[in-house]
Amino acid sequence: MSRRVDPTVATVHRRHAFAKVNLTLDIGNLRADGYHELQSVMQTISLADEVAVTVTEAPGIVLRCTGPIPIGNGPDNLAYRAGAAVISSSGYTGGFEIEVDKRIPLRSGLGGGSADAAAVLELASRAIGWRPAPAMLRTMAAQIGSDVPFFLRGGTAHITGRGERVVPLPDIDPLHLVIVRPLDADSEVDDGVPTALAYQTLDELRGSETPSAATDALIRAISSGSRDHLIGGLRNDFIPVLDRLAPRSIVALDDLRRYGAAGHNLCGSGSAVFGVFDTADRAKDVAHLMSERWGWAISCRTVPSTECAAT
Ligand code: C5P
Repeated sequence: MSRRVDPTVATVHRRHAFAKVNLTLDIGNLRADGYHELQSVMQTISLADEVAVTVTEAPGIVLRCTGPIPIGNGPDNLAYRAGAAVISSSGYTGGFEIEVDKRIPLRSGLGGGSADAAAVLELASRAIGWRPAPAMLRTMAAQIGSDVPFFLRGGTAHITGRGERVVPLPDIDPLHLVIVRPLDADSEVDDGVPTALAYQTLDELRGSETPSAATDALIRAISSGSRDHLIGGLRNDFIPVLDRLAPRSIVALDDLRRYGAAGHNLCGSGSAVFGVFDTADRAKDVAHLMSERWGWAISCRTVPSTECAAT
């Protein structure tokens, strides 16, 4: 079926694309398809890119990225791929202009590219009045990247498979966080962590060691409503790879501890790290100190799924 939209009446569709942290990340075995089985509790946070989509008469994708974080505008960008996926699956014969105001640092484990892709899937579908079945949208999302399905809903969720299976969890009580992404223009080693390299390094380091079971324990902590158990249960199997791939992130974790973080953890496969603080004011102060020392740090809070849907 071919689908046409009159671009003279086209409106701009826009939304936040919230980043995520992993409260836990247990990495299992390498599968025959080259991916690892994993278990995680993922959580959206108030750090966000701004994504806007407009229909165009000319077919194809025009992507424009602005904002403080430089990123390419081509087909490597997951936002571009999400727009192309909507065109090829919907029968729509026009194109999309996609704008991303990029604020989420790259190669940080914060899921910025995946968050943008999920936002584009939703906005581009809406812009052309196409309503794919939820299962189809999830399949399109998983084809773009393992983390993309999570961002279709956001909030707090139990993640399994290679990262694409998502079971919503109850919203947690809001947490005040400081995220630190050490920047070092002079050192390629510390310029973030490419995901595939993090997995490969973990396999080399770990041998036959079994993954932790932190995710099951954290889900129990969430059900119990205990903030202390939740914060005490933060874990990430990628921490041992930091020695090789992002040693400055280990020092940043130590700094967060010294500044009084109640808990701290690595974001995804790195290189950003986060600390949990008791108040928004304390998080703001620590973020200020940490940004002077590490080049990039912000305070933020956890964001529930209802807020993701509303923006
Ligand atoms: O799915 P995504 O494109 O984000 O994955 C990037 C790379 O990270 C994969 O090609 C794979 O090498 C590695 N990966 C993995 N196991 C996962 C997710 C990603 O080994 N569960």
